Amino acid sequence: MNAVSARDICKKYGTVHALTGVSFDVEPGDIFGIIGPDGAGKTTLFRILTTLLLADSGTATVDDHDVVKEFRLIRNKVGYMPGRFSLYQDLTVEENLNIFATVFNTTVRENYHLIKDIYQQIEPFKNRRAGALSGGMKQKLALSCALVHKPSVLFLDEPTTGVDPVSRKEFWGMLRSLKQQGISILVSTPYMDEAGLCDRIALIQSGRFLKIDTPQNIVGQFGRPLWAVRGERMSALLRDVRSHPQIATCFAFGDAHHVTPADPVLTPDALSSYLRDKGHTGIEVFPISASIEDCFMELTEAAP
Ligand SMILES: Nc1ncnc2c1ncn2[C@@H]1O[C@H](COP(=O)(O)OP(=O)(O)OP(=O)(O)O)[C@@H](O)[C@H]1O
Ligand SMILES: [Mg+2]
Repeated sequence: MNAVSARDICKKYGTVHALTGVSFDVEPGDIFGIIGPDGAGKTTLFRILTTLLLADSGTATVDDHDVVKEFRLIRNKVGYMPGRFSLYQDLTVEENLNIFATVFNTTVRENYHLIKDIYQQIEPFKNRRAGALSGGMKQKLALSCALVHKPSVLFLDEPTTGVDPVSRKEFWGMLRSLKQQGISILVSTPYMDEAGLCDRIALIQSGRFLKIDTPQNIVGQFGRPLWAVRGERMSALLRDVRSHPQIATCFAFGDAHHVTPADPVLTPDALSSYLRDKGHTGIEVFPISASIEDCFMELTEAAP
């Protein structure tokens, strides 16, 4: 049995192809990450799997139940934390949690053990309106609400977007402990650095999965040498690296440009002297290992 199984899911909005043939399986107890930029189709996929939206074609099951024929069953078994607007902003923390429990015919007390570690952090503010919480606290409340009926599969759509780095880290810690309690988790994120925290990931772009594998295998399959290039004038440097005839790609990555040579004969030293000849100073060129973001760039280059 798979926690989630999708075959050839397609969805169009008018002429916009939001999903074009998405297939994948999530094993029970896995944290499966859907990683991709704005507009890639993440929310559309989550809404189809949580039975809130119908696909144009394709099939999907959650806990072996068909998302169309058995939508009622699925709604009782999954927890869904949509990116935005999941909380009642005018109600208090405690009232929000009680409403979610009541809707699912349960009580907060019944499954308190599941939310305890998360909810205890916001319990001191239980009389505060949800709308007046910080981003990190809202996220903890939304997660508590999605968990209060003890779902077997949890769908989290961009739970860490707009949340500070410390809360993001804490949040992933909470997901680990939910996994240990046997809950399967599908989580989407635009942050490539969160990919490594998942058991398996799908890289999504323009409604299509570019790759599905463990993050370790994906970085392991990066096919080319990769160099970091730094200098004093980074934007001029980007242009000049790209002008080198033996360079395949050059992308700006935070504090360095990431460069792949097209020709195995080219060395970092040769590139350094080419750039110094162009008047650059403080040049450093050194080999690095690929990150998920490098793999994503490589795969989008190759995509039709
Ligand atoms: N109701 C709608 N009507 C028309 N187009 C839509 C609708 N919802 C989404 N789209 C389009 O479908 C594509 C996929 O959108 P979707 O919201 O699924 O992506 P996403 O990965 O969740 O993006 P985001 O990072 O913005 O949340 C986008 O091009 C989007 O503009
Ligand atoms: Mg979205």
